[in-house]
Amino acid sequence: LERTLIIVKPDAVQRGLIGEVLARLERRGLKLVALKMMWMSESLAEAHYAEHREKEFFSDLVRFITSGPVVVGVVEGPNAIEVTRTMMGETNPATSPPGSIRGDLALTISQNVIHGSSSPEAAQREVALFFRPEEILSYERAIDRWVAG
Ligand code: GTP
Ligand code: MG
Repeated sequence: LERTLIIVKPDAVQRGLIGEVLARLERRGLKLVALKMMWMSESLAEAHYAEHREKEFFSDLVRFITSGPVVVGVVEGPNAIEVTRTMMGETNPATSPPGSIRGDLALTISQNVIHGSSSPEAAQREVALFFRPEEILSYERAIDRWVAG
């Protein structure tokens, strides 16, 4: 089983889409094992998006992700990283297929509703950046053997 970090971004919180985004992940069968609402600090945002620090859009990205509250979670399941990325669609919502989160709920690259870790290394780093080990819960659901068997 893999774990990955998801962030419901400030645009989605403002638009009342927290439940919609989390519901899609839940319906897929992924298990939420950590969840919190927070307002990211500039330093946390810069650490989270460190890989983009040299990009011309970096300051806009940090300004956006710190512009309001976000919901941060850890989801667990078989291939959770790839499954979540596929469900998200492309970075640019304009080329994201209908049925994907960005393809159904977003229009522009700068306000694209959800973040999901892009690799096992990124997932491990990002989960540790946002959650202490004891905040990540280990529990069984009755449906686990039907979705993760
Ligand atoms: P995240 O899940 O947020 O990391 O998105 P991603 O993995 O699909 O894209 P990436 O990590 O490459 O970029 C991080 C974020 O930077 C994206 O979600 C966009 O909001 C923003 N971004 C990426 N490329 C561009 C760009 O060319 N222009 C602008 N304005 N923003 C960009
Ligand atoms: Mg990324």
